[in-house]
Amino acid sequence: LFAGETEFLKGVVAMDGMPPDDRLEVCFAGRSNVGKSSLINALTGRKGLARASNTPGRTQEINFFTLAESHYLVDLPGYGYANAPLAVVEKWQRLLKQYLSGRATLRRAFVLVDTRHGIKPVDEEIMTLLDKSAVTFQVVMTKADKVKDSDQVKILDQVREKLSKHPAAYPELVMTSAEKGDGIPLLRSIIATLT
Ligand code: GTP
Ligand code: MG
Repeated sequence: LFAGETEFLKGVVAMDGMPPDDRLEVCFAGRSNVGKSSLINALTGRKGLARASNTPGRTQEINFFTLAESHYLVDLPGYGYANAPLAVVEKWQRLLKQYLSGRATLRRAFVLVDTRHGIKPVDEEIMTLLDKSAVTFQVVMTKADKVKDSDQVKILDQVREKLSKHPAAYPELVMTSAEKGDGIPLLRSIIATLT
């Protein structure tokens, strides 16, 4: 699957701009700056495909990428970012929630969690929305290169404990580093086996 062509299709700012739901779709959600765009770049092996940046709030639209002939990869704006005008934040958040609860072909939402920080209240809010919408979600831990293995244990315990309360959570965690490439082949194969 990931040997196929990947291309940016479009950025969407309202539900009526969504492309036709005729492909299998996975999305990447998570707090601002958690590493969503970087992860898409690592998965596709194309560094500049999704725009990544150290400035939180970089991705402001719902960006659709086509993967081979069969899939969409969807890069979402981050949530939990307070440092933008309130009206703007509310607009993204509304769109994000409409997307996560109303997209028929969305097979799985990957919820990214920074390995340094674990699950925050804003993540739980999104997870609860996914529970209610019956969208299976799977947690992908990001930036694992920034935390020593011995220090990951406590965070991972916290994450598993919190996930156990969410019926839509897929129990397997994926540890990744977009920087070093850890976990990227595993995540590719998870996406490729979704039907
Ligand atoms: P928004 O679009 O603003 O919501 O952010 P995002 O979640 O798309 O994050 P983005 O991919 O832009 O990455 C944010 C910052 O984290 C960038 O400076 C990345 O280089 C860095 N980063 C992302 N993934 C990793 C990783 O695995 N390891 C390390 N060390 N840094 C990473
Ligand atoms: Mg981004």
